[in-house]
Amino acid sequence: MQKAKIQELLAKAVEARKYSYSPYSNFKVGAALITKAGKIYTGCNVENASFGLTICAERTAIFKAISEGEREFEALAVVADVEGVVSPCGACRQIIHEFLRDAQIITGNIKGDYKIFTPDELLPFPFSESAFS
Ligand code: THU
Repeated sequence: MQKAKIQELLAKAVEARKYSYSPYSNFKVGAALITKAGKIYTGCNVENASFGLTICAERTAIFKAISEGEREFEALAVVADVEGVVSPCGACRQIIHEFLRDAQIITGNIKGDYKIFTPDELLPFPFSESAFS
């Protein structure tokens, strides 16, 4: 993906981060997902007093898009206020592998630093449908 497009997607993730509901961790995360047709879906982390029910920003964005009928994705950007770049959690890596297998995963921070990974780099030995098909 071109640098300008990557920066645009990172900016959308930074914008989405503003809506983070994270009173327990105070760790705000934003994500932006772009489809192959160019539509952008955003997400933030949404926490809960029952901590285990928290959903990460990446999954919010992915589930918003999937539930709108989208299936073809070009890239996902995720940002937080960290030194270096934010690292998607294991659960998100599994979900990324399910739906964004050939997409670029852009992990960044709010200053604009970023690194790009493939889903296979993030989760080299995923559980997949091949186990039962
Ligand atoms: N979190 C995300 O939203 N995405 C990540 O990639 C890492 C973690 C959220 C979950 C929780 O609300 C907070 O960050 C602290 O773990």
